[in-house]
Amino acid sequence: MRPESALSSALAVAITLAIPVKAAPQQMFKRATTELSLTAQLQLVDTAVDRYLLLPKDEDFLFDFKHSEFPVANRKTFPALVGYGASMSISQLAACSMSFLHLHPRATELFALTSGRVHSEMVPEGSVLDSEGNQRIIRAELGPGMMTIFPAGSFHTQVNPDCEPANFTAAFTSEDFGFSLVADQTFSFSDDVIAATFGQTIAGEDIDKVRDAIPGTIAIKVEECLSKCGKQKRQT
Ligand SMILES: *[C@@H]1O[C@H](CO)[C@@H](O)[C@H](O)[C@H]1NC(C)=O
Repeated sequence: MRPESALSSALAVAITLAIPVKAAPQQMFKRATTELSLTAQLQLVDTAVDRYLLLPKDEDFLFDFKHSEFPVANRKTFPALVGYGASMSISQLAACSMSFLHLHPRATELFALTSGRVHSEMVPEGSVLDSEGNQRIIRAELGPGMMTIFPAGSFHTQVNPDCEPANFTAAFTSEDFGFSLVADQTFSFSDDVIAATFGQTIAGEDIDKVRDAIPGTIAIKVEECLSKCGKQKRQT
């Protein structure tokens, strides 16, 4: 027997001993920590196999984007994702709207369009330069059946320049991708930090004016498009 095969048969024996195939439900589940959310319990179990005991129904493995309040399946809204490092959103970008400049702190996003049209812009991490030595900006024009990638931490935005909504599917490489709004978060710093950051071009009361002008929403309307489509600002 070669040394590797001796090792692998030793491992096989060890694994067989350690994991009885039909293990009785563990005591642990009887003293269920019911005050913990299902997501938290799923994160605490010893093995991936044990997670199935906490998800006994087939429906536990189904997420309905159409009928959920918030069309994002992450480990909180869809606990079956726990342990698998992925999440998804199926939604629409309203006519004439732009998703506010944002980033996902823990995930790369695969953004695919199923209908309509979307322009995306993405600014990757520092030191990614164009041929002239300036920060590189990557733009994509997406139609149905096309996809782009927003690497984790990259700043990005999507614009729907048309009069119809654009349907998209976005997949993320984390169960908890997270969301940061670049302007909102930048302007949360104290005035002195903001003044210094912007080379003293905005100062004092102007900083508050900018703060107040930043929309608190995820998407804003694109004026030119609204007039082209004959839509009002409040309409979606
Ligand atoms: C876009 O999605 C909405 C909501 O799910 C759906 O009603 C509509 O038919 C879709 N549009 C197209 C063109 O697929």
